Amino acid sequence: PSPSMRTLRERRDALRDEIVAGTRAAVDRQHALGKRTARERLALLLDEGSFVEIDMYRRHQAHGLGMERRRPHTDGVVTGSGTIHGRRVFVYAQDFTIFGGSLGEAHAVKIQKVMDLAVSTGSPFIGINDSGGARIQEGVMSLNGYGGIFQRNVQASGVIPQISVVLGPCAGGAAYSTALADFTFMVRDAAQLYLTGPDVVEAVSGQRVTHDELGGAQVHGTRSGIATFVHDDEETCLEDVRYLVSMLPANNLELPPRGPSRDAASDLRPRLAEIVPVEPNKPYDMRQVLAEVVDDGEFMELHEGWAGNVICALARIDGEVVGVVANQPLVLAGVLDVAASQKAARFVRFCDAFSIPLVTLVDVPGFLPGTDQEYAGIIRHGAKLLYAYCEATVPRVQVILRKAYGGAYIVMDSRSIGTDLSLAWPTNEIAVMGAEGAVNVIHRRELASAADPAALRAELVAEYSRQLVHPHYAAERGLVDDVIDPAHTRSALARGLAMLRDKRRPAVQRKHGNVPL
Ligand code: COA
Repeated sequence: PSPSMRTLRERRDALRDEIVAGTRAAVDRQHALGKRTARERLALLLDEGSFVEIDMYRRHQAHGLGMERRRPHTDGVVTGSGTIHGRRVFVYAQDFTIFGGSLGEAHAVKIQKVMDLAVSTGSPFIGINDSGGARIQEGVMSLNGYGGIFQRNVQASGVIPQISVVLGPCAGGAAYSTALADFTFMVRDAAQLYLTGPDVVEAVSGQRVTHDELGGAQVHGTRSGIATFVHDDEETCLEDVRYLVSMLPANNLELPPRGPSRDAASDLRPRLAEIVPVEPNKPYDMRQVLAEVVDDGEFMELHEGWAGNVICALARIDGEVVGVVANQPLVLAGVLDVAASQKAARFVRFCDAFSIPLVTLVDVPGFLPGTDQEYAGIIRHGAKLLYAYCEATVPRVQVILRKAYGGAYIVMDSRSIGTDLSLAWPTNEIAVMGAEGAVNVIHRRELASAADPAALRAELVAEYSRQLVHPHYAAERGLVDDVIDPAHTRSALARGLAMLRDKRRPAVQRKHGNVPL
């Protein structure tokens, strides 16, 4: 080899240890905590041997506070590109073993560089976070670095899928990059996501709280709704990131990857009629319905532990990726509330941005009534879901299984707000409200003065149901396109999606709408 090649190799060899991670002690500590180094994580995330590293030699140029003496290569973040199931992605993985994974100027610029490449090549972007936050020694330049990342997160929103994986601390400003991503993965006992840590919380409010209580995976998976997916360990978490990526298009100009056809158009599912009780108020698990309707009974549910009254899931029907939004009668009788509206609205907007057709399974008694909800702004939050559906231009198929009442009927992708195909089971009850409620309002005076109010009520309820909530009422008026046998749900969805596959609608020319936030 020429002298220059030799020098290069020697230099690489000399730097190898340092480039692999921080000090041995720091790596041991990371392992003792059940965590992996940045490179070990990337090895799990990406196809074997596919990782191409960028900026391996980068190091900070900071001065003061002893920084001149500590200038490790990589600057605490490993960045580059690789493939997942053969499809390109861009990545960064923060390395807690170097400066606690904290973000200084060079670290930030490295992340920004791969974000720019992800956008210019139209590839998904995945960030693995494990960091003490802004690098304190670099002061305001760290904050400037975060700002540059957030600006890119926003510019890339709706252009490429962005996935944030939190496998350790992710504090302060760093949390916003996660909030701006499309999906957030967290691992129990390891991930911590908060704006201000326990020390600051105690100093300001006197409240003592642990890292986990403040921002652990459980908290964000069940209370704040910030974690889209929660896992018990890094392996299953990163495996699921791979699974998610396998269902997403690389960017907003591509379609999601199709799987093989499953002859779904002729696949009858008689069990569906057994799963769903005919009585409108009897609960059942909507997940069982999903399992019958989608390919291989397999779906990836978002926010499993948060706002369980609505299910949002990615799945395939006859090989085609779909986003399923479904009311869940098992939780809060399937009503829509603030959290459910937020959850479903963001999912609908994601699917719309990335050309994923929407399948909406409706069995909804209405919006959750009460001061709690009204004070929390259910009108504004419900409007988000309404807005999201009204705006969506992807193929949209609605199936009304049982009941669909009032405003909640309208919001759950009704004909009036632009569904492309509306199907209903013969058990459907589409109405302003349930028969009992309706009779109580319109016949209040007669019922108050009746000799036998119970008998009169029963008679009026039967009459109201006969006139207004019979299965073909909405179909006769064109609000439902077909009344189908429940066993035909999967096949009808497959045919409907095939029919709508080439749906195109030009974007409306305006700067942007003013979605209620
Ligand atoms: N800037 C610079 N260095 C940081 C850092 C930061 N924000 N956060 C952590 N580090 C360094 C530590 O100084 C330590 O360095 P050393 O190994 O040379 O001693 C190393 O990273 C590991 O940190 P340590 O505190 O020992 O790890 P831990 O697991 O006990 O705690 C945190 C992790 C994140 C809870 C803790 O480091 C922390 O509170 N960091 C500050 C968070 C913060 O306020 N960031 C700024 C706001 S955005």
